[in-house]
Amino acid sequence: MLKKIQDLLKEVENFKSDSLDEIEQFRIKYLSKKGIVSELFSEFKNVPVEQKKEFGQMMNKLKTQTLIKVNQLKDSFTADDKEYSELDLSLPGSPLDSGSRHPVSIVKNEIVEIFSRLGFTVSEGPEIEDDWHVFSALNFPEEHPARDMQDTFFIEKNPDILLRTHTSSVQVHEMESMKPPIRTVSPGRVFRNEAISARAHCIFHQVEGLYIDENVSFADLKQTLLYFAHEMFGENTQIRLRPSYFPFTEPSAEVDVSCNLCGGKGCNVCKYTGWLEILGCGMVDPNVLEASGIDSNKYTGFAFGMGVERIAMLKYGVKDLRLYFENDVRFLRQFSSAF
Ligand code: PHE
Repeated sequence: MLKKIQDLLKEVENFKSDSLDEIEQFRIKYLSKKGIVSELFSEFKNVPVEQKKEFGQMMNKLKTQTLIKVNQLKDSFTADDKEYSELDLSLPGSPLDSGSRHPVSIVKNEIVEIFSRLGFTVSEGPEIEDDWHVFSALNFPEEHPARDMQDTFFIEKNPDILLRTHTSSVQVHEMESMKPPIRTVSPGRVFRNEAISARAHCIFHQVEGLYIDENVSFADLKQTLLYFAHEMFGENTQIRLRPSYFPFTEPSAEVDVSCNLCGGKGCNVCKYTGWLEILGCGMVDPNVLEASGIDSNKYTGFAFGMGVERIAMLKYGVKDLRLYFENDVRFLRQFSSAF
């Protein structure tokens, strides 16, 4: 009897199969109600008393070894098998979430593209600047309030080093290194020490433009800006220039476009004026040309500068500037464009 169990143990140990059916047959043969194991157990009563202990131990061993074997074989088998049996190759794939361009990038690219059609090149410069390129070369008097700590982030140890407050600084680099004609736009990030609100942020983006050549006139400036307004906001858009002041331009103006939401009739976006302010501009002050070594008797030029977030807000009807900086994908996903 004990010999029989030993033989069975060997048989179990040597059993191998890569067929689920065979494994199941093996399990039934050994472990089912009428299987070998329970049949042997039923003979327990006939086993001589002195052998009962050993018989019991070997039977338990046979039972557990068989169970372990069956489970092992099934496990290794079903792991692979499942992968194939549950794989439905006809199901549509799960799409990858594709990113979208940030609305500020879309609008910046669109602005740059519009001016490139008029022959403007793109120039870039450093965000950390010196006083000369941000202020002095642009005809800011020493005591001008824009140099005040209120607006500008200075590097503590050296007030000559600061974060640019506008990309006009890039145009100074251009004037210093290039000979007229110069026709360039400077997109980039700028920094101002302002409290963050729905209408203001300490970081924002600008595109500034500069055109210097012989006989550049205010009429050229107006026509360039009218072209821009039509391309950006639609063919029926009108522009309006209001006298203004910038240290680096004379005369200077602020430019409004007719509100494209109400068609100029007045709504809460244009605060019932029918007009939206979009940029500052003017004829380059001769002092600025001279500071960068350009002969102001021979050359004249115009310059303009706009905030990209502001244009994007007007274009998309977004009322809170902060949305552009929070990077909430529910907001960002809504913008798509060729730009
Ligand atoms: N640099 C000005 C600003 O940051 C904008 C501007 C540029 C105005 C060129 C006039 C001419 O506000």
